[in-house]
Formats: sequence, C-alpha cells, structure tokens
Amino acid sequence: MTRHEEIGRGGNAVEVRGLVKHFGDTKAVDGIDLDVREGTVMGVLGPNGAGKTTLVRMLSTLLVPDAGSATVAGYDVVRQPRELRRTIGLTGQYASVDEKLSGWENLYMIGRLLDLPRSQARKRADEMLERFSLTEAAKRPASKYSGGMRRRLDLAASMIGRPRVLYLDEPTTGLDPRTRNEVWDEVQNIVAEGNTVLLTTQYMEEAERLASELTVVDRGRVIAEGRVPELKAKVGGRTLNIRPVDPRDLRPMATALAEAGLDGVGGSTTDESAGVVNVPILSDEQLTAVVGLLGQRGFPVADISTHLPSLDEVFLALTGQKATHESGEAQDPEHETKEVAA
Ligand SMILES: Nc1ncnc2c1ncn2[C@@H]1O[C@H](COP(=O)(O)OP(=O)(O)OP(=O)(O)O)[C@@H](O)[C@H]1O
Ligand SMILES: [Mg+2]
Repeated sequence: MTRHEEIGRGGNAVEVRGLVKHFGDTKAVDGIDLDVREGTVMGVLGPNGAGKTTLVRMLSTLLVPDAGSATVAGYDVVRQPRELRRTIGLTGQYASVDEKLSGWENLYMIGRLLDLPRSQARKRADEMLERFSLTEAAKRPASKYSGGMRRRLDLAASMIGRPRVLYLDEPTTGLDPRTRNEVWDEVQNIVAEGNTVLLTTQYMEEAERLASELTVVDRGRVIAEGRVPELKAKVGGRTLNIRPVDPRDLRPMATALAEAGLDGVGGSTTDESAGVVNVPILSDEQLTAVVGLLGQRGFPVADISTHLPSLDEVFLALTGQKATHESGEAQDPEHETKEVAA
C-alpha cells in the first residue's frame, strides 16, 4: 500500500476546488471548496439533501464531477482514480456488508478484493475483528449482528486496506447513544494513528466531538466553515441553564452574573415560567467561573445543565432560514459501494 508516500503539497490530504454535480435540475453539489489537513477530522455538516453523500461519492471516484477538481492524497479524482482508490476507505451511509456472510468472511472477501494474498487477507481479517471488538462474533452471519456491531464491521471493512484517508458518511445515524459512543471512540483511534477522516453528519454533537474543523453545507454550497469553537461562537455557542431552588433567586442571580461580567455576549436571559436563567457560554473558563460565583454567593441551585445549539439553530443563525428537511430522500442503496477494489 501507499501508506508511506508523501501526502499532497501543503499538508492537505483532501483538496476540493469548485466541485459541481447536478442531477437534472437538482444542484446536488454546486461549487464546493474544501481542504482537509492531513491527520485531522473534517466534519461536513448539513441537513438532508445538502449534497454530503454526493460529495463523498465524487471524492471516492464513484461519481464523476461535472466541473471543478479534487485531489485526495495528491491523486486527482478524475485522472488517477485507481491510485486514489488505493489510499481511501469508505463507510457508506447505508451499511453494505453481505448479510449472509459472517463478519470474518466479509472482511476476508474485502481483503481479497484489494488483492491481498490469502494468508494476508486472513491475518488482516483477524486483526480488524480484534481491533473492533468483534472477535467473538467472527463466525456469526452479519444478519445476526446488532446495529452497532454492523457499524463496527463497516468500519473494520473500510480499514482493511489501511487507508490513509477515510470517508465516514453519517456513521452513527440511527444508532443508540451508547453505540454511537463506541463508534466515536473508534474514529478517534483511527485519527490518533495519523489517518485523515472526512466525516459527514447531521449531528452537531458528533461534529463537535470528532471534528477539528467544520464545513457547513446547504443546497450544494458551503455556507460556513471554520474551527468548531469559532463556528459555535458565531452561532451563539452553548447555553447554560441554571434553575435555582427558589424562583425568587432568578433575578438576583442574573444581576450577580452581569455584575461579575460573566453573562456572556448579549447577556443572560431570565425565563420566569421555566424558572431558569439562560447564560450564553463562550468558553470553559466562563462556565467554571459562573458555577464558582453561584457557589460563592450561596444561591441554592436545583439544576444546572448546558445546552448545545442544534443543527437547526446553527442553520437559523447562519442562514436566517430554517433548515429544510427534504423527506423521503432515500437513494438507491445499490449505488452505495463500501469496499473499493482498485
Ligand atoms: N443519483 C441521483 N439522482 C438524482 N438526484 C440525486 C442523486 N443523488 C442525489 N440526488 C439529489 O441530490 C441532492 C443531494 O443529495 P445527497 O444524497 O448528496 O444529500 P445528503 O446531504 O447526503 O443528504 P442525507 O443527509 O439525506 O443523506 C438531493 O436533492 C438528492 O435528491
Ligand atoms: Mg447522504
């Protein structure tokens, strides 16, 4: 494999310039620029139909762009598809393991498709099952796997060829919170090993947990980009909700925070009916100071929680419009190809 080759110039594993893909009147991807630094996770955030999967499919050579250019690990998506495919792994939005085969057989088959000799394909299948905690389930058919196990098998499958650049298309959509955490841990391990990940997601929390930088897309265009804290600050960041034991403390609490200069940009708001003070939080230091001040002043607090902006709130803030959620955008799963044989 090409693991030790130098990645492109300037340390970008992925470089996308003016990429376009239209389907009839649908401008699925309508001029996207994107740089993913080597060894980082880029989060591509967007609602249903934003163009995320179309982008990933172009970067995987599964779709040919109408215009623009893209390189992955220095390889051009149009001119060097074979070389490019050898450096990438793809976990599609729709699980695409063969249900009838066991976990081990799925992985072995992919190894063989990637031209590994039999003995190596066997070894690699064992390693990946171990790595993704599936060794005990190795012989069971994938149809008997839970949702989380399947996603882990998907990840294992996309790692068989030791990709340097991994695309994860909504890797945790439909998973329960515990399983989602397992997948997140695996993604973090993959990046800790020096690989680069392009992650599409509709979950702000997932983007925040995994991605160092975000690109927000809507209707085929980039509507915002930047490091996660910058973007969150732009859209208002987190909110701290404080519920005093005694609702009569609401106003004095808000006043104390304002006097200490701890009520964030725009100031806190007091919601009398809900019995909470909402404080915009811009940094962990501010959060710690707010909690400290409440203790110092001796306000008895019944509940305190932070609230992240939802994707809808981000969209509202960035575009001034509510996010559009096209329904029933199911694509033909046949078009989703997970393993990429060179
Ligand atoms: N093969 C295709 N033929 C026609 N239209 C398509 C095709 N693939 C995607 N589209 C359309 O392009 C737009 C972008 O779709 P895409 O699947 O890239 O969005 P997405 O951001 O991945 O959405 P989701 O979050 O629902 O997966 C949608 O309007 C979709 O209907
Ligand atoms: Mg998609």
